[in-house]
Amino acid sequence: MSKDTIWDRFLKPLFSTFLLNKEQIEQTQKAIDWEEETQELKDPSISYPQYYKSQNFHGIAGGYLTSAAAVTYDPITQYVLPPNETIVRQALLDKIVGYPKKIIDLGCGTGSGTLALKKLFPDSQVMGIDLSPYMLALARYKAKEQHLIIDWRHGIAESTTLANNSVNLVTISLLFHELPTKIIKSVLDEVFRLLTPGGQVLILDGNQKVINRASWLANVFEEPYIKEYAQGNLDSWLVSVGFGEIKTDDIWLIHQITRAVKPG
Ligand SMILES: C[S@@+](CC[C@H](N)C(=O)[O-])C[C@H]1O[C@@H](n2cnc3c(N)ncnc32)[C@H](O)[C@@H]1O
Repeated sequence: MSKDTIWDRFLKPLFSTFLLNKEQIEQTQKAIDWEEETQELKDPSISYPQYYKSQNFHGIAGGYLTSAAAVTYDPITQYVLPPNETIVRQALLDKIVGYPKKIIDLGCGTGSGTLALKKLFPDSQVMGIDLSPYMLALARYKAKEQHLIIDWRHGIAESTTLANNSVNLVTISLLFHELPTKIIKSVLDEVFRLLTPGGQVLILDGNQKVINRASWLANVFEEPYIKEYAQGNLDSWLVSVGFGEIKTDDIWLIHQITRAVKPG
């Protein structure tokens, strides 16, 4: 692990000394039988892509394939979505048009956004897909605590194996800055295939223009593909896949939310 990023030198010690509620993290760690839950969630046919298993996202050794990554994710995320995680996630929900019946949250992580979708659309079928059984185990635990029925699937965003034209809404939050551009384009192809004609995709992530201009932002967290992400343009990637009605809005300067529709 590199020792000279801003994250390593300043933020990690700050987080671990002052900002993280260690008791709460330990409680979550103990509340889940990680071995049993991850075995149950794992799809044995999945092999982890090289870009995923070879990187230490957020500076955590082992990337997302550890319980440590899962239990620290929510406590850290609440500080890295200024002005506030709830406001930023709500901004995505506010852009959804209509009442989508079938919803997929791709790269759902610990399910914070997925749970919010189910609360907003209680009559809809909501599915959360993620490559990490550890993140899914925590997502499932949170859903059980809140009595929310969500279908959690171990899966690869760029090849879900789900049916063509079967989903009305796909949401993707905080995933693309962690993927090589080539994979982002494959994910968008997959989303296009999954959506019904007229179906919508909503994407929340770092603001490409701002991160590209302020390159120090890209160095703050140990994100291996963020510079590549920031140099690109999500709108043009969506155009190349065939999406229409594409609109990207800046959200609190450092985030962006994009909505696009599969022509129907
Ligand atoms: C930064 S987290 C975002 C989690 C969640 N969407 C949120 O808003 O908090 C990125 C998540 O994407 C997952 N992920 C990364 N690459 C993926 C892929 N190709 N397919 C499915 N999930 C992936 C990781 O395991 C991780 O849980």
